[in-house]
Amino acid sequence: MPLWYGGDHNPEQWPEQMWAEDVALMRRAGVTLVTVGVFSWSRLEPSEGRYDFGWLDRALGLLADAGIGVDLAVPTASPPPWFSLAHPDALTVTRDGVRLTHGSRDTYCVSAPAYREASLRITRVLGERYRGHPALTMWHVHNEYGTPCHCDHSAAAFRAWLRRRYGTLDALNDAWTTAFWSQRYSDWEQITPPRATQYLPNPAQALDFRRFVSDEMLAHFREQRDVLRELTPGVPVTTNYVMAGWASVDHWKWSREVDLVAIDHYPSGQGMAAAEQSAFAADLARSWAGGRPWLLMEQATGYVLGPRVTPKEPGEIARHSLQHVARGSKGVMFFQWRASRGGAEQWHPGMVPHAGPDSRVFREIRALGEALKRIPAPPDGPVLDAEVAILWDEEAWWAVQGPGLPSAEIDYLSAAEQAHRVLWRQGVTACFAHPSHDLTACRAVLVPSLYLISDEAARNLAAYVEGGGTLVVSFFSGIADEHTRVRLGGYPGALREVLGVRVEEFRPLAGPVTLTDFGAATVWSEVVHLHGAEAVARYPGGGPAVTRHRFGDGTAWYVSTRLGDSGYARVLARAGLTGSGVPGVEVVRRRDLVFAINHTGDEQPAPVRGIDLITGDPVPGVLRPGECVVAAREDTGGPADPRAR
Ligand code: GLA
Repeated sequence: MPLWYGGDHNPEQWPEQMWAEDVALMRRAGVTLVTVGVFSWSRLEPSEGRYDFGWLDRALGLLADAGIGVDLAVPTASPPPWFSLAHPDALTVTRDGVRLTHGSRDTYCVSAPAYREASLRITRVLGERYRGHPALTMWHVHNEYGTPCHCDHSAAAFRAWLRRRYGTLDALNDAWTTAFWSQRYSDWEQITPPRATQYLPNPAQALDFRRFVSDEMLAHFREQRDVLRELTPGVPVTTNYVMAGWASVDHWKWSREVDLVAIDHYPSGQGMAAAEQSAFAADLARSWAGGRPWLLMEQATGYVLGPRVTPKEPGEIARHSLQHVARGSKGVMFFQWRASRGGAEQWHPGMVPHAGPDSRVFREIRALGEALKRIPAPPDGPVLDAEVAILWDEEAWWAVQGPGLPSAEIDYLSAAEQAHRVLWRQGVTACFAHPSHDLTACRAVLVPSLYLISDEAARNLAAYVEGGGTLVVSFFSGIADEHTRVRLGGYPGALREVLGVRVEEFRPLAGPVTLTDFGAATVWSEVVHLHGAEAVARYPGGGPAVTRHRFGDGTAWYVSTRLGDSGYARVLARAGLTGSGVPGVEVVRRRDLVFAINHTGDEQPAPVRGIDLITGDPVPGVLRPGECVVAAREDTGGPADPRAR
């Protein structure tokens, strides 16, 4: 099966005379799939119950005639103005109590009955109209779920969710430690979402609200998915997750509900940092997909950074794309096909830039389309072997996003990124796992600052080490239970036994200190007592900083401070985790193919032999700066991804 190639196509933004020209250009670029209609609700339903499908019929007809598939969107991410005016109670209310106004996108409350009903109506009407359409390849529900609302509808739904979770008010009061600051609830009706309040909010309430928002949005997704499954059985239903710094939903949970995991990836760094982030995002997506294929639904031809939007350097579009394909993406998709001339994202890069097809970007898009034609999509089943797992848990991340922690510099994402980056630089392909997943097949498990850990997950990690595993735990892991309550008796309560240490005090650092090994440490330090573990490196005052503990047949390492990348890499090396990679030359073995990507500006020895699928020629002895090759693997077989379910 060929790879999908394309992006968001928004014909409603352009005069109809341009549509045929666009489709012809798509054919020139090798486009095979486009996402249509993500933000077209106001065109499809100009007033309540009155539909206008003529334009979409014609747009989809042109695409079908050209053999281009459609990932047809259900446009619920952006209700039309008439809807918001008719149902002001369905507009988002922020934490500060501000009711938002229509004028951007995502101005809805996912718990508002009017919004839920309108979503279902437009979904059914679309499903009925386009079932059996020759271009219909996939359904794209909503867009980047992630808008919390704090209104009274949300409050009622939150209370219902809490009743299901806790059963009794006593259980809730206990879980939320409401004895503190006189917060004890004596009636369910007293409970609200976390709203603007005088000083620090209740952390357990805040965490439960994040869980609730994820579940509530998932319920909205499932309602639409079920209508589409009923009307078009066999057509996959997906939604696009936001990656990087915005953990809006519990992706492990969501990924059980979508037919295909799909992500949007916009790196926040440039150059090598962007390459590292692309590999991170792709490994995460594959892991959410149970080690199986998934889809890069959106990326950009340029960098969309906070302070500026700037082009990707020549070759970067292809390199980033192939990183995703190597890691199991079934295609390469962009936001968006044609850069908009107006509207809020008029400066967002497109496959066809404002300059038009006579442009470097479009030439690169065409060349990429040619290359992708020669690379098969990943077959169903485990994509690759990844022996090292990094623990990933959005609940633990949410729990350290609140105020009131002993250091404002604790950052779960950057700890996870560091673990991944250090492995990536050594050529070790990693996967991600939930703390309660079966880890027995992993050569090693890295635990980046995982503040919150359930009893079940703690037992899982201990059993993993006992059975012979290697665990590397970073500071501020295993501290709290699932209600953000500190585990008493010495930190890290959930992991003391397996790590063979007892931490008496945290000592966040104001500046760097130098350890006896592994270089400088920043942000954090601890008063660590050894209870079976041995010190591998010490703080300047002599206390243990990095420890190692034989536990059962395995070994558990503890890094009680933040190390730099080279220090962390040296800890991993001491734990037996090294690769043979050349920094900046990425090699990924995807089933029977090997992808080699030279992210450096220098020639590098080619790490593969054989025929390059992209050029059809033998792989030369060296990779040119920025060059990518894809060749057949010489050593097919071997163990499957241990995380593949
Ligand atoms: C997201 C959205 C798109 C667009 C891009 C811009 O991924 O899904 O609609 O806004 O961001 O980066």
